[in-house]
Amino acid sequence: MAEEKEIKLNKIKEECKNCYKCELGKTRKNIVFSDGNPNAKILLIGEAPGADEDATGTPFVGRAGKLLTKLIEECGFSRKDDFYICNTVKCRPPENRVPTDEEKSLCENYLLEQIKTVNPKVIVLCGATSAKSFLGNKIKISEIRGKWYKLFDNIDTTVIFHPSYLLRNHSELEGSPRWLTKQDIYKIKEISEQ
Ligand code: URA
Repeated sequence: MAEEKEIKLNKIKEECKNCYKCELGKTRKNIVFSDGNPNAKILLIGEAPGADEDATGTPFVGRAGKLLTKLIEECGFSRKDDFYICNTVKCRPPENRVPTDEEKSLCENYLLEQIKTVNPKVIVLCGATSAKSFLGNKIKISEIRGKWYKLFDNIDTTVIFHPSYLLRNHSELEGSPRWLTKQDIYKIKEISEQ
């Protein structure tokens, strides 16, 4: 089963490497497919690769990624073992702009195939762009973070602040965005272990 997953995911990754459906394919250095464990219970979806991710081909390795890793590890998780990490689009948008709805929709099938293959217990939508992709463009991240939804075949899904936002908000005091995010991650841990 684990081997079947790897084969399927590698096939999707190869398709992404050959994908030029949108303009992002022209400017990318590398596709950024995933990181972590395909057998993890938690699948986290970020926004889009930045410069560090484009250079390395790995999601969430820049400053925001380091903060995300620190927060999940402080809550008792291993990033490498407990998470499968990907993004709404596989290629870096120039100047780190938000990916357009068209870019997201042209890339969507790859993401849906990843989700179907990994078949996680919990999906974490990390940041507004990711949340909008699944919950609609009208959502406000501050209103929906920490709430739980059901997506696809009954998969428990929640929303957390994006770590780039947390980089601009340093406080860890009770009620602060960083504090709220840690509460959200503790809840994710509880639900994933049920
Ligand atoms: N921000 C994201 O949303 N994803 C990454 O991979 C890196 C930064």
